[in-house]
Amino acid sequence: MIIIKHIDKIEEILAQKKSNGKTIGFVPTMGALHAGHISLIEKSKSENDFTVCSIFVNPTQFNNAIDLQKYPITIEKDIDQLELAVCDILFLPSTAEMYVEGEKNEHYNLGMLETILEGKYRPGHFQGVCIIVDKLLKAVNPNTLYLGEKDYQQCMVIKKMMASKNYDVVLKVCETVRENDELAMSSRNIRLNKNERIAALKIIETLKFIKSEIKPGKLDKIKSTATNLLTENGYKVDYTEIADAETLELIDYWDGDKKLVALVAAYLNDIRLIDNLIL
Ligand code: PAF
Repeated sequence: MIIIKHIDKIEEILAQKKSNGKTIGFVPTMGALHAGHISLIEKSKSENDFTVCSIFVNPTQFNNAIDLQKYPITIEKDIDQLELAVCDILFLPSTAEMYVEGEKNEHYNLGMLETILEGKYRPGHFQGVCIIVDKLLKAVNPNTLYLGEKDYQQCMVIKKMMASKNYDVVLKVCETVRENDELAMSSRNIRLNKNERIAALKIIETLKFIKSEIKPGKLDKIKSTATNLLTENGYKVDYTEIADAETLELIDYWDGDKKLVALVAAYLNDIRLIDNLIL
């Protein structure tokens, strides 16, 4: 695996590959890699001539400075995992490389996606995600971008940003990879202690409760019962919501027809966990 730290270098190498007719798959990450990330690398490898993974802990998407400070950094292990997965290129830029001093950040029109769920509870987060993914896509210029469905709203935001910028890149959203007990894999899971790891299962249990109990009609009761399931188990809940799976419009009354997704974000002590389930 080649490790590249500079934008001009990665642009040069990948432009050459593309001009030779090679396809490029791209997996952007913030490191602390787990089997979910590796499954994206494997998918990209099976569909492209070249696979690029980026590791960059993007400061502009952290609306909370402590969250950024506590973000796990495991670069040596990450490199080992990427080598094992036979990833072709790791793009590992510095903050100064991605954010040139004095450069004004672009603003993206994300509509209601920015005002609900993660957008509501993490103001500015999706602007930061779009800024960095836009810069990464310009540098890598992939044929296909691979993202995990665990960040359901992020996938929709990036899709919207890519459409607004006319990127000629296919977005593939890949199923969430789960531990044997169904906890969604996440870089933040490293921070869970033994008791928190057990309690973390309440998130998927709550989502499954919604899936099994949902009926056409008003959804306020099922949402509040689901929230209670989490608060009773020590969580501070940001949201327990049900939304249109295509648009993410929040749904209070279900016609029994529309495809829905249930989404949860909640804190276990100071660790924020998110997950979702198509209903
Ligand atoms: O999902 C992530 O890890 C990040 O939000 C991403 C897409 C790599 C942008 O920093």
